[in-house]
Amino acid sequence: MKRKLIILTDPGQDQAAAILMILGAPDRFDVLGLVATAGNIDLGHTTDNCLKLLELAERTDIKVYAGCPRPMAGALVTAEHVHGPTGLDGPDLPDVTTRIAPEHGVDFIIRTLREAPAGDITICSLSPLTNLAMAMVMAPDIVSRIGEIVAMAGAYFEVGNITPTAEFNVYVDPEAAKIVLDAEIPITILPLDVTHQMLSTPERLAQMRKIGNRCGVATAEMLEFSQAFDLQKYGWKGAPLHGPCVPAYMLQPDIFQGRKINVSVETAGALTRGMTIADWWQISDRKKNAFYVRNGDAEAYYGLLLECLARLP
Ligand code: BDR
Repeated sequence: MKRKLIILTDPGQDQAAAILMILGAPDRFDVLGLVATAGNIDLGHTTDNCLKLLELAERTDIKVYAGCPRPMAGALVTAEHVHGPTGLDGPDLPDVTTRIAPEHGVDFIIRTLREAPAGDITICSLSPLTNLAMAMVMAPDIVSRIGEIVAMAGAYFEVGNITPTAEFNVYVDPEAAKIVLDAEIPITILPLDVTHQMLSTPERLAQMRKIGNRCGVATAEMLEFSQAFDLQKYGWKGAPLHGPCVPAYMLQPDIFQGRKINVSVETAGALTRGMTIADWWQISDRKKNAFYVRNGDAEAYYGLLLECLARLP
């Protein structure tokens, strides 16, 4: 049976790769809609980037909904220093021929969860969790209707990438992450601890280009652009590829290892706001609320990504 997905996203090249990966597995995923989030860049750009990606993949049948223009509390933090001034720099992407859906992203989440049988829908979160948390606050009845959340979020062993203690998606909206993690919904977290194992080496990017289709080439061009910042920062042989960990986990969970543990979010600390505290050694008696992925097989991961990209135009 196909997994029905609502995708939360602020693409961002790594998330573009994740969205294309999902679209390249139409036998496994039924995408109900993309909710554009403010994050890597402002909402205007993230909605536009979602539309461009659907155009690239010839999937303009999928609707894009604009979510909230800023996090639940505080000002928006963006990451143009990684993703470029459009948030999705690198390749020339096709002109957009469609428009965003008139319904607000939060209303779309609420309506879709209410209309579907309880437990039927997976929330695929590639971005800050603002719109899901807003939907949960506005309509608490939807909480028990969510089948599962699979989210790229947080870090523990690899600490932070936007501050020394916080991962970007959680840092942008710690209040939203806290609402979601405290809600006792089945959730799997793909943190930096695993995404930092998935390095976009020159060989892997060359294989991506070699697929020869426009989605494969465009993805390689996007990642070549966004990796520049990380290559310099970490000095590794490739950059971490975050977003596709979410679809890869849904497609083939056995290439990952993790544990069910407690994950809590720090919202108050002056130096630690947005930190995810993962109780990996089960030191506290806080309730286990998340499946926390710690390791993954990078060769199998890139194999899956290439397989999916190859099915696209
Ligand atoms: C996350 O931050 C964003 O910049 C990326 O798109 C990814 O979602 C990684 O911390």
